[in-house]
Amino acid sequence: MIETLAPKAPDPLLKIIKMFREDPRTDKIDLGVGVYKDATGNTPVMRAVKDAEGVLLASQKTKTYVGQQGDVDFLKLVGQLAFGEMSREFVSIQAVGGTGALRLGCDLLRESGAKRILLPAPCWPNHPSIVRAARLEPIDVPFFNIAEQRIDMDALIGGFAKAERGDGIIIQACCHNPLGADFSIEQWKDIADALNARGIIAFVDLAYQGFGDGIDEDVAGARVLLERVPEAVIAVSEAKSFGIYRERVGALFVKAAGEGAAGSDEQSRGYRAGKLFDAAGSWRRNRARSAQR
Ligand SMILES: Cc1ncc(COP(=O)(O)O)c(C=O)c1O
Repeated sequence: MIETLAPKAPDPLLKIIKMFREDPRTDKIDLGVGVYKDATGNTPVMRAVKDAEGVLLASQKTKTYVGQQGDVDFLKLVGQLAFGEMSREFVSIQAVGGTGALRLGCDLLRESGAKRILLPAPCWPNHPSIVRAARLEPIDVPFFNIAEQRIDMDALIGGFAKAERGDGIIIQACCHNPLGADFSIEQWKDIADALNARGIIAFVDLAYQGFGDGIDEDVAGARVLLERVPEAVIAVSEAKSFGIYRERVGALFVKAAGEGAAGSDEQSRGYRAGKLFDAAGSWRRNRARSAQR
């Protein structure tokens, strides 16, 4: 059975990495993997990371099961770093990098009734395969005018017509991969309003916080969007921001509307894995209600 599966095409990134390695020029810039590099081209382990590893080594007493949700303190701190106070209202679960979070988010959207995911094109090349793996249909939506080197909001918002209520759209929060074209605050507001008008769920992909204009600046637009939409899914990768790519550091956050979305006390508010499934249930109930209206 398994031998009948067709081999997958190799990751196109491997080709770029090989081209970089073989290019003899001394002023070359590595556009392969978006990680922090120092002036000598190395990706060092940050001092803070070394210190934290030392603390763990000295203090960790067990590696026993932590529960479905993963490390609750990690989720709380990553939530605060990315979304500030707002994160207290979100539910969250640890994931294997941003990629794992994207996959979980797509699964959650499918579970809640989505059929399609809009992808502002060009997108990160792995987005379509992650969407397909979750049995959703990826749909390209043009959003960049190459000739004029600018974001084309009319094309983007016009493309929302390709989705139906309950479908999703993956929007990169900052340092757009591959274009580097980020939305202004005004554009984030317009996107939020247009998504609300059409009932499309924002799926924010945050993979480079701190690599653009600054830790807070890089998430300012996404925060504006998240304040304006009733429901959203957010995949966070801290692999690059913390300089610990090979640790695959990621998390999925969900802003859910309706009853069952967030608990009332500190312990239950947003930080329990089971709540993710509440969130999916609450979406289904809300959607069923709006379909009846
Ligand atoms: C836009 C974008 N989203 C998500 C990811 C995935 O993050 P991770 O490497 O933590 O899986 C990447 C990684 O390159 C990315 O560029």
